[in-house]
Amino acid sequence: MANIVVVGMQWGDEAKGKVVDYLAQDADYVVRYNGGNNAGHTVVIGNEIYKFHTVPVGVLNDGVTAVVTDGVVFDPSVFVAELKALRERGIPADRIRISRNVHIIMPWHRLLDNLEENSKGDKKIGTTGRGIGPAYADKMSRIGIRMAEFINPDRFKLRLSECIKRVNVLITKVYGSDPLDEEAVYTEYSAYAREIAPFVCDTSTLLYEASSECANIVFEGAHGSLLDIDHGTYPFATSSHCVAGGACIGTGIGPTMIDRVIGVAKAYTTRVGAGPFPTELRDEIGDRIREQGNEYGTTTGRPRRCGWFDSVAVRFTTRVNGVSAIAVTLLDVLTGFDKLKICTHYLIDGKEVRDFPTDVEELQKAVPVYEELPGWSENISDAKTFGDLPHTARNYVNRIAELVEAPICMLGVGRRRDQSIILDAEMLQM
Ligand code: GDP
Ligand code: IMO
Ligand code: MG
Repeated sequence: MANIVVVGMQWGDEAKGKVVDYLAQDADYVVRYNGGNNAGHTVVIGNEIYKFHTVPVGVLNDGVTAVVTDGVVFDPSVFVAELKALRERGIPADRIRISRNVHIIMPWHRLLDNLEENSKGDKKIGTTGRGIGPAYADKMSRIGIRMAEFINPDRFKLRLSECIKRVNVLITKVYGSDPLDEEAVYTEYSAYAREIAPFVCDTSTLLYEASSECANIVFEGAHGSLLDIDHGTYPFATSSHCVAGGACIGTGIGPTMIDRVIGVAKAYTTRVGAGPFPTELRDEIGDRIREQGNEYGTTTGRPRRCGWFDSVAVRFTTRVNGVSAIAVTLLDVLTGFDKLKICTHYLIDGKEVRDFPTDVEELQKAVPVYEELPGWSENISDAKTFGDLPHTARNYVNRIAELVEAPICMLGVGRRRDQSIILDAEMLQM
Protein backbone atom coordinates (compact mmCIF):
# COMPACT_ATOMS: atom_id res chain seq x y z
CA MET A 1 0.00 0.00 0.00
CA ALA A 2 1.39 3.45 -0.86
CA ASN A 3 0.45 7.08 -1.33
CA ILE A 4 2.64 8.51 -4.10
CA VAL A 5 2.82 12.09 -5.37
CA VAL A 6 3.84 12.61 -9.01
CA VAL A 7 5.19 16.10 -9.58
CA GLY A 8 6.62 18.04 -12.55
CA MET A 9 10.21 19.21 -12.00
CA GLN A 10 10.53 21.78 -14.79
CA TRP A 11 8.03 24.17 -16.44
CA GLY A 12 5.29 21.59 -17.07
CA ASP A 13 4.60 18.97 -19.74
CA GLU A 14 7.26 16.62 -18.36
CA ALA A 15 5.04 13.59 -19.18
CA LYS A 16 3.42 13.42 -15.76
CA GLY A 17 0.34 11.95 -17.47
CA LYS A 18 2.34 8.97 -18.69
CA VAL A 19 3.98 8.35 -15.29
CA VAL A 20 0.66 8.67 -13.43
CA ASP A 21 -0.91 6.26 -15.91
CA TYR A 22 1.88 3.75 -15.25
CA LEU A 23 1.24 3.91 -11.49
CA ALA A 24 -2.54 4.01 -11.94
CA GLN A 25 -2.51 0.44 -13.23
CA ASP A 26 -2.07 -0.66 -9.58
CA ALA A 27 -3.86 2.24 -7.89
CA ASP A 28 -7.27 2.57 -6.26
CA TYR A 29 -7.43 6.37 -6.45
CA VAL A 30 -5.87 8.98 -8.75
CA VAL A 31 -6.20 12.51 -7.44
CA ARG A 32 -5.88 15.95 -9.08
CA TYR A 33 -5.02 18.48 -6.36
CA ASN A 34 -3.96 21.74 -8.03
CA GLY A 35 -4.54 23.91 -11.08
CA GLY A 36 -7.38 23.49 -13.51
CA ASN A 37 -7.84 22.90 -17.21
CA ASN A 38 -4.64 24.80 -17.95
CA ALA A 39 -3.18 21.30 -17.50
CA GLY A 40 -2.96 18.94 -20.45
CA HIS A 41 -1.91 15.39 -19.57
CA THR A 42 -1.41 12.83 -22.34
CA VAL A 43 -1.68 9.06 -22.11
CA VAL A 44 -0.98 6.79 -25.09
CA ILE A 45 -2.11 3.16 -24.94
CA GLY A 46 -1.45 1.27 -28.18
CA ASN A 47 -2.80 3.52 -30.93
CA GLU A 48 -5.20 5.37 -28.64
CA ILE A 49 -4.26 8.90 -27.51
CA TYR A 50 -6.08 10.45 -24.53
CA LYS A 51 -5.69 14.07 -23.44
CA PHE A 52 -6.92 15.11 -20.00
CA HIS A 53 -7.49 18.64 -18.74
CA THR A 54 -9.83 18.34 -15.76
CA VAL A 55 -10.46 14.62 -15.26
CA PRO A 56 -7.60 12.67 -13.57
CA VAL A 57 -5.90 10.23 -15.96
CA GLY A 58 -6.69 7.29 -13.66
CA VAL A 59 -10.22 7.16 -15.08
CA LEU A 60 -8.82 4.94 -17.86
CA ASN A 61 -8.33 2.08 -15.40
CA ASP A 62 -11.10 -0.20 -14.17
CA GLY A 63 -11.36 -0.03 -10.42
CA VAL A 64 -9.70 3.38 -10.08
CA THR A 65 -11.67 6.25 -8.57
CA ALA A 66 -10.65 9.56 -10.14
CA VAL A 67 -10.85 12.38 -7.60
CA VAL A 68 -10.75 16.16 -8.07
CA THR A 69 -9.98 17.83 -4.76
CA ASP A 70 -10.31 21.23 -3.06
CA GLY A 71 -7.11 22.82 -4.43
CA VAL A 72 -8.37 22.63 -8.02
CA VAL A 73 -10.18 25.40 -9.90
CA PHE A 74 -12.88 23.71 -11.91
CA ASP A 75 -14.42 24.71 -15.24
CA PRO A 76 -17.81 22.96 -15.46
CA SER A 77 -18.12 23.51 -19.22
CA VAL A 78 -14.77 21.79 -19.83
CA PHE A 79 -15.55 18.94 -17.44
CA VAL A 80 -18.91 18.23 -19.12
CA ALA A 81 -17.26 18.20 -22.56
CA GLU A 82 -14.46 15.93 -21.32
CA LEU A 83 -16.97 13.56 -19.73
CA LYS A 84 -18.94 13.34 -22.97
CA ALA A 85 -15.79 12.66 -25.01
CA LEU A 86 -14.69 9.91 -22.60
CA ARG A 87 -18.11 8.23 -22.67
CA GLU A 88 -18.13 8.34 -26.49
CA ARG A 89 -14.87 6.39 -26.38
CA GLY A 90 -16.42 3.80 -24.08
CA ILE A 91 -14.72 4.97 -20.86
CA PRO A 92 -17.20 4.67 -17.99
CA ALA A 93 -16.92 7.90 -16.05
CA ASP A 94 -19.08 6.98 -13.06
CA ARG A 95 -15.97 6.60 -10.83
CA ILE A 96 -15.23 10.34 -10.77
CA ARG A 97 -15.60 12.27 -7.51
CA ILE A 98 -15.35 16.05 -7.18
CA SER A 99 -14.85 18.02 -3.97
CA ARG A 100 -17.62 20.24 -2.59
CA ASN A 101 -14.90 22.85 -2.08
CA VAL A 102 -13.43 23.29 -5.57
CA HIS A 103 -13.76 26.85 -6.85
CA ILE A 104 -15.74 27.21 -10.05
CA ILE A 105 -14.18 28.90 -13.09
CA MET A 106 -16.94 31.17 -14.39
CA PRO A 107 -17.07 32.85 -17.83
CA TRP A 108 -15.83 36.16 -16.39
CA HIS A 109 -12.64 34.46 -15.19
CA ARG A 110 -11.78 33.44 -18.75
CA LEU A 111 -12.74 36.86 -20.05
CA LEU A 112 -10.67 38.69 -17.42
CA ASP A 113 -7.68 36.38 -17.98
CA ASN A 114 -7.61 37.44 -21.63
CA LEU A 115 -8.41 41.12 -20.99
CA GLU A 116 -5.65 41.35 -18.36
CA GLU A 117 -3.14 39.62 -20.62
CA ASN A 118 -3.99 41.91 -23.55
CA SER A 119 -3.53 44.98 -21.36
CA LYS A 120 0.01 43.92 -20.39
CA GLY A 121 1.72 44.59 -23.73
CA ASP A 122 5.21 43.07 -23.70
CA LYS A 123 4.79 42.04 -20.04
CA LYS A 124 2.35 39.25 -20.92
CA ILE A 125 2.70 36.00 -18.93
CA GLY A 126 1.45 33.99 -21.88
CA THR A 127 -1.27 32.30 -19.84
CA THR A 128 -3.41 29.52 -21.26
CA GLY A 129 -6.39 31.93 -21.22
CA ARG A 130 -8.44 29.44 -19.20
CA GLY A 131 -9.33 31.87 -16.39
CA ILE A 132 -6.99 30.24 -13.88
CA GLY A 133 -5.40 33.38 -12.35
CA PRO A 134 -8.69 35.29 -11.92
CA ALA A 135 -10.39 32.21 -10.39
CA TYR A 136 -7.60 31.77 -7.83
CA ALA A 137 -7.61 35.54 -7.17
CA ASP A 138 -11.32 35.34 -6.26
CA LYS A 139 -10.62 32.32 -4.08
CA MET A 140 -7.95 34.21 -2.14
CA SER A 141 -10.18 37.30 -1.93
CA ARG A 142 -12.89 35.01 -0.53
CA ILE A 143 -15.43 35.97 -3.15
CA GLY A 144 -15.33 32.85 -5.33
CA ILE A 145 -18.17 30.39 -5.93
CA ARG A 146 -17.52 26.91 -4.57
CA MET A 147 -19.00 23.64 -5.80
CA ALA A 148 -21.40 23.25 -2.85
CA GLU A 149 -22.97 26.61 -3.75
CA PHE A 150 -22.85 25.93 -7.46
CA ILE A 151 -24.96 22.75 -7.29
CA ASN A 152 -27.60 24.34 -5.03
CA PRO A 153 -29.90 26.31 -7.41
CA ASP A 154 -30.99 28.95 -4.87
CA ARG A 155 -27.53 29.58 -3.48
CA PHE A 156 -26.07 29.67 -6.98
CA LYS A 157 -28.63 32.24 -8.19
CA LEU A 158 -27.80 34.52 -5.28
CA ARG A 159 -24.02 34.20 -5.60
CA LEU A 160 -24.13 34.60 -9.38
CA SER A 161 -26.11 37.79 -9.04
CA GLU A 162 -23.62 39.22 -6.50
CA CYS A 163 -20.59 38.26 -8.59
CA ILE A 164 -21.87 39.37 -11.95
CA LYS A 165 -22.79 42.84 -10.69
CA ARG A 166 -19.24 43.31 -9.45
CA VAL A 167 -17.44 41.88 -12.48
CA ASN A 168 -19.60 43.72 -14.99
CA VAL A 169 -18.39 47.02 -13.51
CA LEU A 170 -14.80 45.83 -13.96
CA ILE A 171 -15.39 44.49 -17.46
CA THR A 172 -17.18 47.58 -18.76
CA LYS A 173 -15.55 50.43 -16.80
CA VAL A 174 -11.94 49.25 -16.68
CA TYR A 175 -11.65 47.22 -19.86
CA GLY A 176 -14.42 48.79 -22.00
CA SER A 177 -15.72 45.36 -22.89
CA ASP A 178 -19.33 44.09 -23.11
CA PRO A 179 -21.07 43.07 -19.85
CA LEU A 180 -22.12 39.47 -19.20
CA ASP A 181 -25.80 38.56 -19.29
CA GLU A 182 -26.80 37.16 -15.89
CA GLU A 183 -29.80 35.18 -17.15
CA ALA A 184 -27.86 33.55 -19.98
CA VAL A 185 -25.03 32.54 -17.63
CA TYR A 186 -27.53 31.17 -15.11
CA THR A 187 -29.30 29.05 -17.71
CA GLU A 188 -26.10 27.62 -19.18
CA TYR A 189 -24.35 26.98 -15.85
CA SER A 190 -27.43 25.53 -14.08
CA ALA A 191 -27.51 22.82 -16.73
CA TYR A 192 -23.84 21.99 -15.99
CA ALA A 193 -24.57 22.00 -12.24
CA ARG A 194 -27.35 19.42 -12.66
CA GLU A 195 -25.04 17.15 -14.63
CA ILE A 196 -22.14 17.51 -12.19
CA ALA A 197 -24.06 17.24 -8.87
CA PRO A 198 -24.03 13.40 -8.72
CA PHE A 199 -20.20 13.41 -8.74
CA VAL A 200 -19.82 15.80 -5.80
CA CYS A 201 -18.79 14.66 -2.32
CA ASP A 202 -16.47 15.36 0.63
CA THR A 203 -13.23 14.16 -0.99
CA SER A 204 -11.05 14.86 2.05
CA THR A 205 -12.98 12.28 4.11
CA LEU A 206 -13.17 9.92 1.13
CA LEU A 207 -9.38 9.90 0.77
CA TYR A 208 -8.71 9.75 4.50
CA GLU A 209 -10.94 6.70 4.85
CA ALA A 210 -9.44 5.12 1.74
CA SER A 211 -5.97 5.67 3.13
CA SER A 212 -6.96 4.18 6.51
CA GLU A 213 -8.15 1.11 4.61
CA CYS A 214 -4.71 0.82 2.95
CA ALA A 215 -5.79 1.99 -0.51
CA ASN A 216 -3.17 2.92 -3.12
CA ILE A 217 -3.40 6.60 -3.96
CA VAL A 218 -1.58 8.48 -6.74
CA PHE A 219 -1.56 12.26 -6.51
CA GLU A 220 -1.43 13.65 -10.06
CA GLY A 221 0.45 16.95 -9.88
CA ALA A 222 -0.30 19.49 -12.58
CA HIS A 223 2.10 21.97 -14.25
CA GLY A 224 5.69 22.08 -12.99
CA SER A 225 7.51 23.13 -9.84
CA LEU A 226 9.09 26.09 -11.67
CA LEU A 227 5.54 27.37 -12.32
CA ASP A 228 4.61 27.16 -8.61
CA ILE A 229 3.08 30.37 -7.26
CA ASP A 230 5.64 30.55 -4.40
CA HIS A 231 8.67 28.59 -5.58
CA GLY A 232 8.45 29.22 -9.32
CA THR A 233 9.66 32.01 -11.57
CA TYR A 234 7.08 34.55 -10.35
CA PRO A 235 5.31 36.37 -11.96
CA PHE A 236 5.88 34.00 -14.90
CA ALA A 237 4.14 31.25 -13.02
CA THR A 238 0.69 29.77 -12.63
CA SER A 239 -1.51 30.50 -9.60
CA SER A 240 -1.47 27.19 -7.74
CA HIS A 241 0.81 25.12 -5.50
CA CYS A 242 2.55 22.91 -8.05
CA VAL A 243 5.17 21.44 -5.71
CA ALA A 244 4.58 18.12 -3.91
CA GLY A 245 3.42 19.92 -0.75
CA GLY A 246 0.45 21.08 -2.84
CA ALA A 247 -0.86 17.53 -2.62
CA CYS A 248 -1.45 18.02 1.11
CA ILE A 249 -2.78 21.56 0.79
CA GLY A 250 -5.07 20.67 -2.08
CA THR A 251 -6.54 17.45 -0.70
CA GLY A 252 -6.65 17.79 3.06
CA ILE A 253 -4.36 14.76 3.44
CA GLY A 254 -1.60 15.33 6.02
CA PRO A 255 2.11 15.24 5.07
CA THR A 256 2.75 12.13 7.19
CA MET A 257 0.42 10.17 4.93
CA ILE A 258 2.60 10.66 1.83
CA ASP A 259 5.01 7.77 1.29
CA ARG A 260 6.98 8.85 -1.78
CA VAL A 261 7.40 11.70 -4.23
CA ILE A 262 8.25 10.83 -7.83
CA GLY A 263 9.59 13.83 -9.74
CA VAL A 264 9.19 13.87 -13.51
CA ALA A 265 11.79 15.63 -15.67
CA LYS A 266 12.32 15.65 -19.40
CA ALA A 267 15.78 14.65 -20.65
CA TYR A 268 15.95 18.26 -21.91
CA THR A 269 13.87 21.34 -20.99
CA THR A 270 10.75 23.00 -22.38
CA ARG A 271 8.64 25.97 -21.43
CA VAL A 272 5.37 27.41 -22.82
CA GLY A 273 4.57 31.08 -22.36
CA ALA A 274 6.88 33.90 -21.27
CA GLY A 275 9.54 34.05 -18.57
CA PRO A 276 13.25 33.33 -18.08
CA PHE A 277 14.66 30.06 -19.43
CA PRO A 278 18.48 30.05 -19.15
CA THR A 279 19.17 26.98 -21.32
CA GLU A 280 16.74 27.92 -24.11
CA LEU A 281 18.02 27.19 -27.64
CA ARG A 282 16.76 29.77 -30.09
CA ASP A 283 18.48 28.04 -32.98
CA GLU A 284 18.23 25.01 -35.23
CA ILE A 285 19.05 22.65 -32.33
CA GLY A 286 16.02 23.98 -30.40
CA ASP A 287 13.89 23.60 -33.54
CA ARG A 288 15.13 20.06 -33.99
CA ILE A 289 14.23 19.12 -30.39
CA ARG A 290 10.77 20.67 -30.92
CA GLU A 291 10.16 18.62 -34.06
CA GLN A 292 11.63 15.34 -32.73
CA GLY A 293 9.74 15.74 -29.46
CA ASN A 294 6.53 17.05 -31.06
CA GLU A 295 6.78 19.90 -28.58
CA TYR A 296 3.47 21.63 -29.14
CA GLY A 297 1.15 22.37 -26.19
CA THR A 298 -1.42 19.73 -25.21
CA THR A 299 -3.83 22.45 -24.06
CA THR A 300 -3.22 25.41 -26.38
CA GLY A 301 -1.23 23.88 -29.26
CA ARG A 302 1.43 26.60 -28.86
CA PRO A 303 5.00 25.65 -29.89
CA ARG A 304 7.01 24.97 -26.74
CA ARG A 305 10.34 26.71 -26.20
CA CYS A 306 13.09 24.05 -26.07
CA GLY A 307 16.55 23.88 -24.52
CA TRP A 308 19.22 21.70 -22.91
CA PHE A 309 18.74 19.94 -19.57
CA ASP A 310 19.27 22.36 -16.69
CA SER A 311 20.65 20.57 -13.64
CA VAL A 312 20.63 23.79 -11.57
CA ALA A 313 16.85 24.01 -11.96
CA VAL A 314 16.20 20.30 -11.39
CA ARG A 315 18.52 20.10 -8.36
CA PHE A 316 16.45 22.96 -6.91
CA THR A 317 13.14 21.19 -7.62
CA THR A 318 14.53 17.93 -6.20
CA ARG A 319 14.96 19.87 -2.97
CA VAL A 320 11.68 21.79 -2.81
CA ASN A 321 9.70 18.65 -3.57
CA GLY A 322 11.64 16.30 -1.30
CA VAL A 323 11.85 13.99 -4.30
CA SER A 324 12.37 10.26 -3.60
CA ALA A 325 13.36 9.42 -7.18
CA ILE A 326 13.06 10.84 -10.69
CA ALA A 327 11.45 9.61 -13.89
CA VAL A 328 13.49 10.99 -16.81
CA THR A 329 11.20 11.15 -19.83
CA LEU A 330 11.47 11.67 -23.61
CA LEU A 331 15.05 10.35 -23.69
CA ASP A 332 14.38 9.03 -27.22
CA VAL A 333 13.92 12.61 -28.46
CA LEU A 334 17.68 13.21 -28.04
CA THR A 335 18.58 10.39 -30.45
CA GLY A 336 20.69 11.54 -33.39
CA PHE A 337 22.51 14.46 -31.80
CA ASP A 338 26.32 14.14 -32.04
CA LYS A 339 26.81 16.04 -28.83
CA LEU A 340 24.49 16.79 -25.91
CA LYS A 341 24.87 19.50 -23.32
CA ILE A 342 23.88 19.64 -19.67
CA CYS A 343 23.95 22.91 -17.75
CA THR A 344 25.99 22.39 -14.57
CA HIS A 345 25.86 25.93 -13.16
CA TYR A 346 25.23 29.56 -14.12
CA LEU A 347 27.36 32.67 -14.30
CA ILE A 348 25.51 35.73 -13.00
CA ASP A 349 27.44 39.01 -13.19
CA GLY A 350 30.56 36.88 -13.63
CA LYS A 351 29.93 34.90 -10.41
CA GLU A 352 29.45 31.13 -10.32
CA VAL A 353 25.91 30.27 -9.16
CA ARG A 354 24.80 26.72 -8.29
CA ASP A 355 21.52 27.50 -6.49
CA PHE A 356 18.56 28.33 -8.70
CA PRO A 357 17.54 31.99 -8.30
CA THR A 358 13.77 32.42 -8.34
CA ASP A 359 13.97 36.20 -8.73
CA VAL A 360 13.32 36.68 -12.43
CA GLU A 361 15.62 39.65 -12.86
CA GLU A 362 18.53 37.64 -11.53
CA LEU A 363 17.54 34.54 -13.50
CA GLN A 364 17.29 36.58 -16.68
CA LYS A 365 20.99 37.40 -16.31
CA ALA A 366 22.02 33.75 -15.85
CA VAL A 367 24.51 32.51 -18.44
CA PRO A 368 24.45 28.70 -18.50
CA VAL A 369 27.73 26.84 -18.25
CA TYR A 370 27.61 23.50 -20.01
CA GLU A 371 29.26 20.14 -19.87
CA GLU A 372 29.33 18.37 -23.24
CA LEU A 373 28.56 14.66 -23.55
CA PRO A 374 28.63 12.38 -26.60
CA GLY A 375 25.21 11.52 -28.05
CA TRP A 376 23.92 8.31 -29.67
CA SER A 377 22.42 7.48 -33.04
CA GLU A 378 20.75 4.13 -32.28
CA ASN A 379 16.96 3.98 -32.06
CA ILE A 380 16.18 3.45 -28.37
CA SER A 381 12.39 3.41 -28.50
CA ASP A 382 12.21 -0.40 -28.18
CA ALA A 383 14.70 -0.61 -25.31
CA LYS A 384 13.27 -2.56 -22.37
CA THR A 385 16.15 -2.45 -19.90
CA PHE A 386 18.90 0.00 -19.00
CA GLY A 387 21.37 -2.45 -20.53
CA ASP A 388 19.57 -2.19 -23.90
CA LEU A 389 20.61 1.48 -24.15
CA PRO A 390 23.86 2.53 -25.88
CA HIS A 391 26.57 3.34 -23.33
CA THR A 392 26.48 7.03 -24.27
CA ALA A 393 22.76 7.18 -23.36
CA ARG A 394 23.48 5.41 -20.07
CA ASN A 395 26.27 7.91 -19.35
CA TYR A 396 23.93 10.81 -20.09
CA VAL A 397 21.29 9.47 -17.67
CA ASN A 398 23.87 8.68 -14.96
CA ARG A 399 25.32 12.17 -15.24
CA ILE A 400 21.86 13.72 -14.75
CA ALA A 401 21.35 11.65 -11.59
CA GLU A 402 24.74 12.76 -10.27
CA LEU A 403 24.16 16.45 -10.96
CA VAL A 404 20.62 16.68 -9.61
CA GLU A 405 21.53 14.53 -6.60
CA ALA A 406 18.61 12.12 -6.90
CA PRO A 407 18.24 8.51 -8.06
CA ILE A 408 16.44 7.76 -11.31
CA CYS A 409 13.65 5.16 -11.12
CA MET A 410 12.22 5.24 -14.62
CA LEU A 411 13.10 6.29 -18.17
CA GLY A 412 10.72 7.23 -20.98
CA VAL A 413 11.76 6.11 -24.46
CA GLY A 414 8.50 6.73 -26.34
CA ARG A 415 4.95 7.98 -25.95
CA ARG A 416 3.26 4.65 -25.38
CA ARG A 417 2.49 3.23 -21.95
CA ASP A 418 4.83 0.28 -22.63
CA GLN A 419 7.77 2.47 -23.72
CA SER A 420 9.24 2.83 -20.24
CA ILE A 421 12.38 1.39 -18.68
CA ILE A 422 12.06 0.66 -14.98
CA LEU A 423 15.28 1.17 -13.05
CA ASP A 424 13.88 0.89 -9.54
CA ALA A 425 10.64 -1.07 -9.34
CA GLU A 426 10.42 -0.69 -5.55
CA MET A 427 10.20 3.10 -5.84
CA LEU A 428 7.24 2.69 -8.18
CA GLN A 429 5.56 -0.04 -6.17
CA MET A 430 2.05 0.93 -5.08
P1 GDP B 1 2.19 16.36 -18.88
O1 GDP B 1 1.47 17.65 -18.92
O2 GDP B 1 3.36 16.38 -17.94
O3 GDP B 1 1.31 15.16 -18.61
O4 GDP B 1 2.81 16.15 -20.34
P2 GDP B 1 2.09 16.40 -21.76
O5 GDP B 1 1.15 15.28 -21.99
O6 GDP B 1 1.56 17.77 -21.86
O7 GDP B 1 3.34 16.35 -22.74
C1 GDP B 1 4.18 15.25 -22.82
C2 GDP B 1 4.20 14.78 -24.29
O8 GDP B 1 5.25 13.85 -24.47
C3 GDP B 1 2.93 14.03 -24.69
O9 GDP B 1 2.66 14.27 -26.04
C4 GDP B 1 3.30 12.57 -24.47
O10 GDP B 1 2.55 11.68 -25.28
C5 GDP B 1 4.75 12.58 -24.89
N1 GDP B 1 5.60 11.60 -24.20
C6 GDP B 1 5.52 11.14 -22.95
N2 GDP B 1 6.58 10.35 -22.65
C7 GDP B 1 7.32 10.29 -23.77
C8 GDP B 1 8.57 9.66 -24.09
O11 GDP B 1 9.20 9.00 -23.27
N3 GDP B 1 9.03 9.85 -25.37
C9 GDP B 1 8.37 10.60 -26.30
N4 GDP B 1 8.91 10.74 -27.49
N5 GDP B 1 7.23 11.22 -26.01
C10 GDP B 1 6.72 11.08 -24.77
P1 IMO C 1 0.71 20.63 -17.45
O1 IMO C 1 -0.03 20.09 -16.24
C1 IMO C 1 2.98 23.88 -19.33
C2 IMO C 1 2.01 27.97 -18.00
C3 IMO C 1 1.39 28.80 -19.11
C4 IMO C 1 1.86 30.19 -18.70
C5 IMO C 1 1.81 30.12 -17.17
C6 IMO C 1 0.55 30.74 -16.56
O2 IMO C 1 0.16 20.16 -18.73
O3 IMO C 1 2.17 20.39 -17.29
P2 IMO C 1 -2.00 29.97 -16.51
O4 IMO C 1 -2.98 29.70 -17.62
O5 IMO C 1 -1.76 28.77 -15.62
O6 IMO C 1 -2.31 31.19 -15.72
O7 IMO C 1 -0.60 30.28 -17.26
O8 IMO C 1 1.86 28.75 -16.83
N1 IMO C 1 1.34 26.66 -17.76
C7 IMO C 1 1.77 25.48 -18.23
N2 IMO C 1 2.80 25.20 -19.05
N3 IMO C 1 2.20 22.89 -18.83
C8 IMO C 1 1.19 23.17 -18.00
O9 IMO C 1 0.44 22.21 -17.39
C9 IMO C 1 0.92 24.51 -17.68
N4 IMO C 1 -0.01 25.13 -16.93
C10 IMO C 1 0.27 26.44 -16.96
O10 IMO C 1 1.87 28.45 -20.38
O11 IMO C 1 3.20 30.38 -19.06
MG1 MG D 1 0.87 19.09 -20.32
